[in-house]
Amino acid sequence: MRLAILLSGRGSNFAAIHGAIVRGDLDAEIVCVISNRPDAPGIAHARTLGLPAHAVDHRAFDSRAAHEAAVLAILEKEKPDFIALAGYMRLLSPAFIAAYPMRIINIHPSLLPAFPGVDAQGQAIVYGVKLSGCTVHFVDENLDAGPIIVQRAVEVRADDDASTLAARILEEEHAAYVEALVKLASGDYCVDGRRVVFN
Ligand code: GAR
Repeated sequence: MRLAILLSGRGSNFAAIHGAIVRGDLDAEIVCVISNRPDAPGIAHARTLGLPAHAVDHRAFDSRAAHEAAVLAILEKEKPDFIALAGYMRLLSPAFIAAYPMRIINIHPSLLPAFPGVDAQGQAIVYGVKLSGCTVHFVDENLDAGPIIVQRAVEVRADDDASTLAARILEEEHAAYVEALVKLASGDYCVDGRRVVFN
């Protein structure tokens, strides 16, 4: 499986995916890592690992379409089977998503459809849910809304705040992202409406 990674920040999900490949748990090759933020720790990490790393600073472009065209040009060259958003904090346009239907995946730190958007862990604390978690899903044109591939639940403790909950969810994110990619790499699944069915 040829895998492209898009990130904006820390890159711990990217590191977890890379670790799984190195250990032999995931049969994949990271063909490029793209960050819209040149100072993202994740892109620096990709460089130290010797992976093809591209900083495509969205602030250097006049429009979303122009920035996406630059990202798409890299992807067209690298021909990934899947594009994994790993803390990529830019909305993708419908045209970008249409270029890779059911081949862009995202991780979100809640049990979707609860708490889409920013600060999902803080939203969970404020709402008072007893269970939250993370979701790996296909990306469609709606925010945090595409067909669900893997979810993992995390208990919300009485003394949690957004940051302690985020830390425990993050551990599950790392495992969930690898689990989802292993399943997708098998190729043995179909998408039936909203349902992703693995055989
Ligand atoms: C992760 O918690 C991920 O779920 C979240 O950003 C963090 C990135 O961490 N993504 C979203 O909230 C997307 N809506 P990382 O850079 O260490 O992988």
